[in-house]
Amino acid sequence: METMLFSPYTIRGVTIKNRIVMSPMCMYSCDTKDGKVRNWHKIHYPTRAVGQVGLIIVEATAVAAQGRISSRDLGIWSDEHVDGLRELASLVKEHGAKIGIQLAHAGRKSEVDGEIIAPSAIPFSEKTRTPKEMTKADIEETIQAFQNGARRAKEAGFDIIEIHGAHGYLINEFLSPLSNRRQDEYGGSPENRYRFLGEIIDAVREVWDGPLFVRISASDYHPEGLTVKDYIPYAKRMKEQGVDLIDVSSGAVVPANIHVYPGYQVPFAETIRREANIATGAVGLITSGLQAEEILRSGRADLVFLGRELLRNPYWPYDAAKELGTAISAPVQYERGWRF
Ligand SMILES: Cc1cc2nc3c(=O)[nH]c(=O)nc-3n(C[C@H](O)[C@H](O)[C@H](O)COP(=O)(O)O)c2cc1C
Repeated sequence: METMLFSPYTIRGVTIKNRIVMSPMCMYSCDTKDGKVRNWHKIHYPTRAVGQVGLIIVEATAVAAQGRISSRDLGIWSDEHVDGLRELASLVKEHGAKIGIQLAHAGRKSEVDGEIIAPSAIPFSEKTRTPKEMTKADIEETIQAFQNGARRAKEAGFDIIEIHGAHGYLINEFLSPLSNRRQDEYGGSPENRYRFLGEIIDAVREVWDGPLFVRISASDYHPEGLTVKDYIPYAKRMKEQGVDLIDVSSGAVVPANIHVYPGYQVPFAETIRREANIATGAVGLITSGLQAEEILRSGRADLVFLGRELLRNPYWPYDAAKELGTAISAPVQYERGWRF
């Protein structure tokens, strides 16, 4: 059967061999605490490439040491990170996958020692530290850090950059009125709360002409928080600024009870795709080939992102192909595994 899941997808000149994306997932594996690529990363990511995942997005990678979630996060805050990342990118590409990197800053959710920063001095929860309200200089420095990260990602040979604007990390903290109470041009109105992300996108675009994704949290799951409706104008704005795809996740700006079920975030991806006329990625409890195919064929998203399913099964694409009654090629070394 002709499937959409296994049809190629071209975005800004980069062709991904199928629509399966490995969602960024922190591995917390830099045991040296210097943000450098370790053997774990060199095994974990290329394995999914052998598994025929079309695009692999490397976990949240910190653009500033202070912006790490934990001290074991991957980093891209220094030129010293480039060599390890280059090796990782080339290992993945050698097996036919494209590779992206998620540029991140954890903001008030950082658990590393020292000062933590955020748009406003409001902690995430009662159990977490109160961040310092960022000064204009902090804002400029952080925008610069995202640009430097993008430049290094290019030097390392990544195909795609994703900016992490979701899950209650720094960019998301600026977007949401729940975490941004600033009185200056970076807070207040929806336009002002967007300014930080807008400036990061422009700064990244100065050094990066490849495909650019932004991950968002399309709902704060809070009566005074953002909803998918608020993200429609934001998505339009991102498109004007040269963002190619919105990777639509949700939640985690404030603690909330979220009712999750298979494909629970897909309606957000669908709404943004339709209303803002921009490509989207759907993510969240997508686990079967049929489910993925339905999302694509119904025009609900352009790419499907899988997280935990690919932790359980790095060879998921072979199973999905079988489920959909199609055949995909395996590396020559593994071909006998498909003959009986
Ligand atoms: C171990 C783990 C680490 C994660 N780290 C990140 C991350 O670095 N960046 C991010 O945007 N999302 C992260 N997520 C969220 C996933 O990318 C994905 O959106 C989420 O798990 C839902 O998809 P799934 O149901 O297919 O797992 C992480 C999830 C898991 C399970």
